[in-house]
Amino acid sequence: MRKGRPSMTARKVALSIVTLGSKPAMDRVLPPDVVHATEKLLVASGVVGEKAVRWSRSQRIVSVYEAFDWMLPGQFEAFAHRKAFFEHQVRDCIGLGATQILVLGAGYDTMGWRLAPEYPGVNFFEIDHPATARLKAKGIDAMGPRDNLCLIAEDLGKRKLVDVLKNNESWDQSAPTIIVAEGLVMYLPAEAVRDLFRQCAVVVGVGSRFAFSYIPSGADGRPDVGRWTGLLLWLQKVIGEPWLWSIRPEELGLFIRELGWKNAPALAETTVKHGVEYFVVALKNHNGPD
Ligand SMILES: C[S@@+](CC[C@H](N)C(=O)[O-])C[C@H]1O[C@@H](n2cnc3c(N)ncnc32)[C@H](O)[C@@H]1O
Repeated sequence: MRKGRPSMTARKVALSIVTLGSKPAMDRVLPPDVVHATEKLLVASGVVGEKAVRWSRSQRIVSVYEAFDWMLPGQFEAFAHRKAFFEHQVRDCIGLGATQILVLGAGYDTMGWRLAPEYPGVNFFEIDHPATARLKAKGIDAMGPRDNLCLIAEDLGKRKLVDVLKNNESWDQSAPTIIVAEGLVMYLPAEAVRDLFRQCAVVVGVGSRFAFSYIPSGADGRPDVGRWTGLLLWLQKVIGEPWLWSIRPEELGLFIRELGWKNAPALAETTVKHGVEYFVVALKNHNGPD
C-alpha cells in the first residue's frame, strides 16, 4: 500500500456495494441495510461525496462494472456474495456462542456498525491501516459510534496482532471469537500471512473460527484470476496494492493446519468460490500452532 494513503481497494469494494444495490435481484443476496449504511459511511468519512454515491447508484455504472467482468469474470456480483457469506458466518458464530468479532483489514465494511446494536453482548473489533482506519473512524463518529465497536488503526505489517490486542483491555484472549479477513491476505507477503494465521490462533479461545477469502494460485505459483491475470497483477501493482499471496486450494488444508487451524469442510457451505476468490472458514485447532 502506498505510504499514508487510504486504501483504493477498500473504496472500490464499498462503491461496488453501492452499485450492486441498483442491480436487480442483488437485494436477495446483499445483507439487509448494507447498501444504505455503506453510502452513509462513504459520505460521512469523506471518502467520496454525495454526487459520487448518486453516480455509483446509476444504471450506467452498473453497466460499466458488468462490462469489466470480461477481465475478472463474476467479480462484480462476487462482492455481494462475499458480504453475504461473511455476515452469515458471523451471525452463525454468534448463535453458537461467540462473544467477540474481529475484522482484519476492515476497510469501509459496515458489518460491525450494523450488527453491534443488534448484539449488545458481543464485542466487535476492527483493524485497518491507519490511513484508512482514521477516515472510517471519522465516518463512524458522524453516523453514531457504538459502545461495543472498537476501531483500531494499525499496520499489521509493522505491528504484530498479538501486541495490538494485548494493549486493548476489552480483548479477551480466551473468548470464543470469529475473525474475519475479507479481501486481505492476497495483499500480504507470504511470511506475513503465515505469521497472521499463527497469531490469530493465539489470540482467540477454543471453538473460535477464522473466515477468510483468498485467490487461488496458478501453475506458476502466482495468483490466478484467469485469462487476464498478467494485466490484473500489473494494475494492482500500479495502484500500489499488489497481490502478493495466493495458494492452491488443495494445499490450503495442510497450510492452515501447521498454523493452528483446521479446515472446516463439515460446516455447511464453508468453502465456496465466487468470481476470482474462495471464501473459507477454518476452526481453531485444539493443539494450537505447531
Ligand atoms: C480489498 S480491501 C477490503 C476491505 C474490506 N475487508 C471489505 O471487503 O470491504 C483490503 C483492506 O486491507 C487493508 N490492509 C491491507 N494491508 C494491511 C495491513 N498491513 N494492515 C492493516 N490493514 C491492511 C487495507 O487498508 C484495506 O482496507
